[in-house]
Amino acid sequence: CRQIFSKMERTYIMIKPDGVQRGLIGEIVKRFESKGFKLVAMKLTKPSKEHMEEHYVDLKEKKFFPGLIEYMTSGPVCAMVWEGKGAVATGRKMLGATMPSESDPGTIRGDLCIEVGRNICHGSDSVDSANKEIAHWFPEGICEWESCSKAWIY
Ligand code: PPS
Repeated sequence: CRQIFSKMERTYIMIKPDGVQRGLIGEIVKRFESKGFKLVAMKLTKPSKEHMEEHYVDLKEKKFFPGLIEYMTSGPVCAMVWEGKGAVATGRKMLGATMPSESDPGTIRGDLCIEVGRNICHGSDSVDSANKEIAHWFPEGICEWESCSKAWIY
């Protein structure tokens, strides 16, 4: 059992400062837990400007970059790693489209936000980005633990 499940896909999911301040951590965590994903790392942290600029380095030429960094450093974020089959793609589906006006009802953004500049959550867009983002946010590493629910999910 340990060998079969130890290579499960992981994704980086982050609740942004507006999501934390609006008290939406529980709601978002609940959706990932209910889906069957396993929470393998979680922390509340107020990122530095440098740390956030590195996270969004691919967007540094975008017009909205300074505003994005200001927003993302305005308060604590909830950094999480979720594990399970297809965690990256399914995690993105659960978050919904980046633009809240285009996110379907039933998704996190579709149900809980209105503005792209306040879109409450981030999710890795590929397995490669997930690995980079997990290393960036959890340089201390991730604690391994076994879940007794696996037999009922897979
Ligand atoms: S782009 O322009 O296509 O590269 O951008 P996109 O892939 O849609 O989004 C990349 C991240 O930038 C955030 N974003 C914005 N933030 C603030 N203001 C505006 N106008 C804006 N447009 C996009 C968007 O939420 C994405 O961040 P994450 O953390 O992945 O949600």
